[in-house]
Amino acid sequence: MRILSGIQPSGESHLGNYFGAMRQHVELQERGQGIYFLADYHSMTSLRGAAERRQAVIELALDYLACGLDPGRSVFYRQSDLPETTELAWMLSTVTPMGLLLRAHSYKDKVDQGVKPDHGLFAYPVLMAADILQYNPDLVPVGQDQKQHVEMTRDIATKFNHAYDTEVFQLPEPHILKAVAVVPGTDGRKMSKTYGNVLRMFWPEKKLRKAIMAIVTDSTPVEEPKDTDQTLFQLWTLFATKDEREEMYARAAAGGLGYGEVKKDLYERVMEHFAPFRERREELAKRPDDIEDILRAGAVRARELATPTFEAARSAAGLGSRS
Ligand code: TRP
Repeated sequence: MRILSGIQPSGESHLGNYFGAMRQHVELQERGQGIYFLADYHSMTSLRGAAERRQAVIELALDYLACGLDPGRSVFYRQSDLPETTELAWMLSTVTPMGLLLRAHSYKDKVDQGVKPDHGLFAYPVLMAADILQYNPDLVPVGQDQKQHVEMTRDIATKFNHAYDTEVFQLPEPHILKAVAVVPGTDGRKMSKTYGNVLRMFWPEKKLRKAIMAIVTDSTPVEEPKDTDQTLFQLWTLFATKDEREEMYARAAAGGLGYGEVKKDLYERVMEHFAPFRERREELAKRPDDIEDILRAGAVRARELATPTFEAARSAAGLGSRS
């Protein structure tokens, strides 16, 4: 089974990314041939600094490798190291109806937010279709927000197959990563870089501790029962077993539990959970050349897997052959 997903380099990974995607990408490696890439072409639709992009790609690679992405088992590469994808995107764009792209939620949302749209933003789903279709993957694990893009990919694949009377492209299935749990940010809103309420698992200990101690709680006095339907308990629960959770919630209901104690315990649990990952990341960060080697070797394998599809698509469309 082929499993394909792209990850956008857009800043520091945080607990929301970890529980929402990273952990599940890493687990899925067991279930088939994983192909994961760092979507630097896509990041061009929102990020304009070259140095910033280079840095973001490396940081994200470090985060994934530290959290267990195994480049020996999975194909792990940087999107722009396989430029053939953009050629395929062109081929696909010629069969993609304007109306389909105009209906994209993510595009409409960006425009509603006041983003001045350019062609890249508009064509974003076509590039994503090329990312996917080049491998004919069986599973495309994505968050709920990307489901429509995978559905558009199915439409685009159908259009191409139909236009050229071929079966080059297999229709991909979205595999929606279940929201394991709500991951609220330190202020109670959804954890997101834009809200500045994130907890990053790779922050220095002091900074992480400070951010956890600053998690917003209500002002119930220590002796009174606590409402467990708030950020602090939701975050704490991510790191607890079912029994521990029951015990903690019983203590909260009984009164006498201080938020400070829960925060300290949360901090310790976060540190414990990520200790091996933090160590690995530190080691990897000392060897930037190795990261570069890993990504390049990944692109070589990616090319091997995608070349048959590229060739078949070129041939179906009557373009020149490269072999
Ligand atoms: N658009 C995806 C996101 O922002 C990233 C992405 C790019 C992707 N190409 C992909 C995901 C192909 C799955 C498959 O999360």
